[in-house]
Amino acid sequence: MSATQTGATTGDRNSFVYVVAGLAALNGLLFGFDTGVISGAMLYIRDTFDLTMIMGYAIDPSLVEGVVVSGAMVGAIFGAALGGRLADRLGRRRLILVGAVVFFVGSLIMAVAPNVEVLILGRIVDGIGVGFASVVGPLYISEISPPKIRGSLVSLNQLTITSGILIAYLVNYAFANGGEWRWMLGIGMLPAAILFLGMLYMPASPRWLYEQGRESDAREVLSRTRSEGRVGEELEEIKKTIQTESGTLRDLLKAWVRPMLIVGVGLAAFQQITGINTVMYYAPTILESTGFADTASILATVGIGAINVVMTVVAVLLIDRTGRRPLLLTGLAGMTVMLAVLGAVFYLPGLSGVVGWVATGSLMLYVAFFAIGLGPVFWLMISEIYPMEVRGTAMGVVTVVNWAGNLIVSLTFLRLVDVFGQSGTFWLYGAFSALALVFCYQLVPETKGRSLEEIEADLRETAVGTAASDDRSSATDADD
Ligand code: GLC
Repeated sequence: MSATQTGATTGDRNSFVYVVAGLAALNGLLFGFDTGVISGAMLYIRDTFDLTMIMGYAIDPSLVEGVVVSGAMVGAIFGAALGGRLADRLGRRRLILVGAVVFFVGSLIMAVAPNVEVLILGRIVDGIGVGFASVVGPLYISEISPPKIRGSLVSLNQLTITSGILIAYLVNYAFANGGEWRWMLGIGMLPAAILFLGMLYMPASPRWLYEQGRESDAREVLSRTRSEGRVGEELEEIKKTIQTESGTLRDLLKAWVRPMLIVGVGLAAFQQITGINTVMYYAPTILESTGFADTASILATVGIGAINVVMTVVAVLLIDRTGRRPLLLTGLAGMTVMLAVLGAVFYLPGLSGVVGWVATGSLMLYVAFFAIGLGPVFWLMISEIYPMEVRGTAMGVVTVVNWAGNLIVSLTFLRLVDVFGQSGTFWLYGAFSALALVFCYQLVPETKGRSLEEIEADLRETAVGTAASDDRSSATDADD
């Protein structure tokens, strides 16, 4: 496709970039759908399969259920671990295509599974697709976006994650009457097919192309996604920083990259250990304990999904104006307070009447504060703070930490509630949230409005400055 086929130019951008980002954001839809769909489907899977046996061995059925649910997260850990390197080798766009195919195949396997073993296989395959998607979605959008709107465009991916969760809740509700879990799981094939077909027509990341020595292709992509005046300027910037070899895991430990590795790993862990997915996976159970009846708690769960989407829209609109830090810090402060309140109300003896409503309200506000800060800002930050030579690898590592946190929290939640009660569990997440606030206040940089290359140059300068005053040998390390 030539530059003449692209959209209208406004300011520093070309409207075609919105199409590219919007389509690539379907990666988030796969992620969110997968997260939201399983709890509803599980209710009916129980009636179809004998969950007391796996491959002829007698097993505790709740363990088998746990494996069905968490199989996708284990797959996602693998997918994310491979995804970073693959994004560098194959290219971002091709990895998105591979991810969509893997997800499609996983959903198909689940929809036709003749027994629970095949269902588990489908969950793992599907999860590998989600793992790829979770690394490469934000990475691709970040590299193709003009700096001024990069925050909003990358956050579209978190918006589709939250929309995917909400759609899954609605799909569960729609198919619940007939208990048609095969449809619930199989419908995931649809967004995967749209993503695959759409991506065939999208350009590769200009930064990746340049790194591959394909300067004229990179220029062509920039001319399709930027206003004319910006193309030469941005290409010059890319030239200054890009080296033609991609880095390895060891390069992540270089003195000048290390601080950002700590920031990424910290954000990844805090995003999960502050408990958001216990609400995403167990909302109906939590709500029932605040006094809702069965069906009302399912509807209130849809309400929570909707708040998550609406507040993410607010974040998308604000993130390039206010910057990342104000949203992150406000969101974390709000989450901490709400978790403290939740712990307190669950501590009271009966959860009826007003107290029940305070509990529900705080749960909703907790989700709202997550959606405006830690939810989108984590995925955005990790696509911005790493230098090009290690960006794929670093995002892979950090995303593995995020999925591992997700798995640990979802496996331990019910047990924690048994041991510490709901109030103790919320206070624990609240304590992590307070720690996260201090961590982010101290260490997370502001990246608003700057090009990826400026961010990288600053990083080198700061590290060289610090290293030179502390220790000359790390200064040499930072320079290589
Ligand atoms: C973030 C988290 C994900 C969670 C979602 C909820 O994307 O990474 O684990 O399910 O937000 O909105």
